[in-house]
This record gives sequence, structure tokens and C-alpha cells, in this order.
Amino acid sequence: MPTPYKRMSLQSRLPRQVSTLYTKVKTTFLREMVLVARELSPPPPMPTLSLEVSIRALGRTEFPRSRDGLRRSLSQKSFVERVERGDVCFALSIEGAVVHTAWVAVRRGPIEYLRRDLALEEDEIFVFDSYTNPEYRSLHLATARAAFVADHYAARGFRRSLGVVAVENKAGLAVPESVGYRRIGSYGAFCIGRLCRTWSEPLPGQQIPALIRMR
Ligand SMILES: CC(C)(COP(=O)(O)OP(=O)(O)OC[C@H]1O[C@@H](n2cnc3c(N)ncnc32)[C@H](O)[C@@H]1OP(=O)(O)O)[C@@H](O)C(=O)NCCC(=O)NCCS
Repeated sequence: MPTPYKRMSLQSRLPRQVSTLYTKVKTTFLREMVLVARELSPPPPMPTLSLEVSIRALGRTEFPRSRDGLRRSLSQKSFVERVERGDVCFALSIEGAVVHTAWVAVRRGPIEYLRRDLALEEDEIFVFDSYTNPEYRSLHLATARAAFVADHYAARGFRRSLGVVAVENKAGLAVPESVGYRRIGSYGAFCIGRLCRTWSEPLPGQQIPALIRMR
């Protein structure tokens, strides 16, 4: 019978900074993502928010002036390129300032972390790069945007919404799971420089999109 100490992973026994470094080194080469999915009908209920918000899709010239509600790594050039290829950036604003964004793609779902796209069915959407300004987290803003997006695409005949989250991103998984997404499989990549060898693993009985070369 192993002792509880022996059952702990190597990572959980390391001091915090060493553990963070361990994760960084590991994920440079080995990248693993959980695939989650949810039927769009019925859409998740809109939460009651304590602040007044507006949610809408941004046009190609509407790169937010304050970038606090947008992933830091996303440049204006990448923003425009994404909009031009058909991806939609949904922005949630409070008093005119964008505090949360998330992207939606159809037909091809980009997974930059794995350097691949997902080959989606005609009636599927792929939600990615969800981000809330740190000062506005845990106010159910991501939940409100998720409800808005589900309603928007369900009304246009889309059936299922998909998303991926890196296995080490516990908060990233908490939001989709709280609005009814379920794990249906996983993807992985072993990368050296820009070369990645990838794999897919559906959970039993699940159909998951194939990984294809990025656009
Ligand atoms: C993930 C993220 C978008 C959540 O945004 P948010 O607006 O704070 O999310 P919400 O307030 O709508 O939270 C929804 C649920 O997830 C839970 N949750 C949010 N952050 C969490 C955290 N760090 N740990 C555990 N649960 C968390 C909330 O408690 C809430 O659950 P509840 O409905 O049971 O109360 C935000 O933390 C973020 O921008 N993180 C960095 C980027 C990222 O990891 N994106 C996701 C992968 S693309």
C-alpha cells in the first residue's frame, strides 16, 4: 500500500515558483488540451449581473482602445486578420469600456497553441480566447457573454458549441463547465520549435473534430 506522499505527483511536491517553471518547460514541448462541448439549445440562462453591460460583435476597425478586456498577446494586426477571415469578436462593455471578449469561429476552429485548426461541422461553432479584465473577474461576465453567444448562434440554426482549454488552466475550465459544457475528448501536441506532432483522443462514444493544418 503506497503512502499518500508517494501517491502525490512530482509537481505537487515542488515549491510554487519551481512548479510554475516546471509547467512552463513541460508545456513548451508537451501541450495538452481538453475539448468541451454543449448543445446550443436551450442556451444557458443569462445571469443576473450587478452592473449594466452591453454585448456586441466588433467590426474590423473596432480594435478596443483600452486593451484591458482583450488577451494581451493579440495585436491589432491579428485582430484585423481574424475579423477578415470571418472570426467574430464578441465584446462585453461597461460604460463604454470593453472588459471581456471572446472569439467565435465557424467551419475552422483555430487552436494556435497546437498550431492546428479544428475541422468543424456546418452547424458547429468554436469559442476561443475568452478573456476578462482581471479587475472584473468573477462577476459572471464570461457567463453572460456565453449565454449571449449561445442564443445568437442557436437562433441562426447552429447546433453545438465547442471549446478547448489547456489542461493546466483550471479557471479556464470552470467557466464552460458552469454553463453546461461537458468534456468530450482531448488533443495534444509534442512540439520542437515550430514543428508539432499532434494527436486526438475522443472520450468513449463521442465524435470529435479532426485537427487539420492551420490556415
Ligand atoms: C476564465 C475567465 C475568462 C473567466 O472570466 P470571468 O468573467 O471571471 O468568469 P465568470 O465570472 O463568468 O465565472 C463563471 C464561473 O466560473 C468560476 N470561475 C471563474 N474564475 C475561476 C477561477 N479562477 N477558479 C475557479 N472558478 C472560477 C466562477 O466562480 C463562476 O462559477 P459560478 O457560476 O458557479 O459562480 C477569466 O478568468 C480569464 O480571463 N482568464 C484568463 C484567460 C483564460 O484562461 N481564458 C480561458 C481559456 S481561453
